[in-house]
Amino acid sequence: MKIIVKDNYKGLSRFAAECIQKQVQYNPGSVLGLATGSTPLGLYERLVQDYKVGGTDYSKVSTINLDEYVGLSKTHPQSYHMFMKENLFSLVNIASRNTYIPDGKAKHLEEECKRYDRIINTIGPPDLLILGIGENGHIGFNEPGSSFEGQTHIVELKESTRRANARLFSSIEEVPKQAITMGIKSILYSKKILLLASGEKKKEAIGQLLTGKIDEQFPASALHLHPNVTVVVDELAYNRQISEAITY
Ligand code: PGA
Repeated sequence: MKIIVKDNYKGLSRFAAECIQKQVQYNPGSVLGLATGSTPLGLYERLVQDYKVGGTDYSKVSTINLDEYVGLSKTHPQSYHMFMKENLFSLVNIASRNTYIPDGKAKHLEEECKRYDRIINTIGPPDLLILGIGENGHIGFNEPGSSFEGQTHIVELKESTRRANARLFSSIEEVPKQAITMGIKSILYSKKILLLASGEKKKEAIGQLLTGKIDEQFPASALHLHPNVTVVVDELAYNRQISEAITY
């Protein structure tokens, strides 16, 4: 695992955007694994800016998103379908038929999980997967205790995760209690992984990740089992004292 520390969120977003741009320029038919949440917003903004000035071509790119809330339609303002549309897909020349996100309104959720695994296995593996990290160490919506062998599945969201995401809803009651998420096994199937963390709130989780201890109670620690992971943090999310005391 490689760690890169940037001065601030802007630097982190620029670095992540450049990784995606290089990937797509190197292979125009790249498969990107994408995340939602606050952290990748700056990255998507930079991709859109770069696209507008005549840069990167996304017409042959495919994308596979990590997760979606159960019960929210594709047009619900807080659905991850809507998030991706508003922040990236409608702003670059990506073909919507090449973008994949689990359907949180599927009638048969177990079937939907299987369908999504088939997509990951046929379209994927992602050449480059972008990940955020929860304060409790979750990746995608794989909460503490998730099996490292898991594929796409339904999760019960922890109260702490619902509270962290409530800022985007009018009240915590409106935050769905379940989500569909790519499992940790599917995440580790990606060829290259970039985990982004910004701000003081992520400092503890990053400190724990960098101890190198692998534990299902801390889902992000599964990334130590992958050969090509880069963790990009800003100064606020990086605990120098802990991190520099650790050698692994
Ligand atoms: P955030 O979420 O980017 O909104 O902090 C990350 C996560 O919970 O995985």
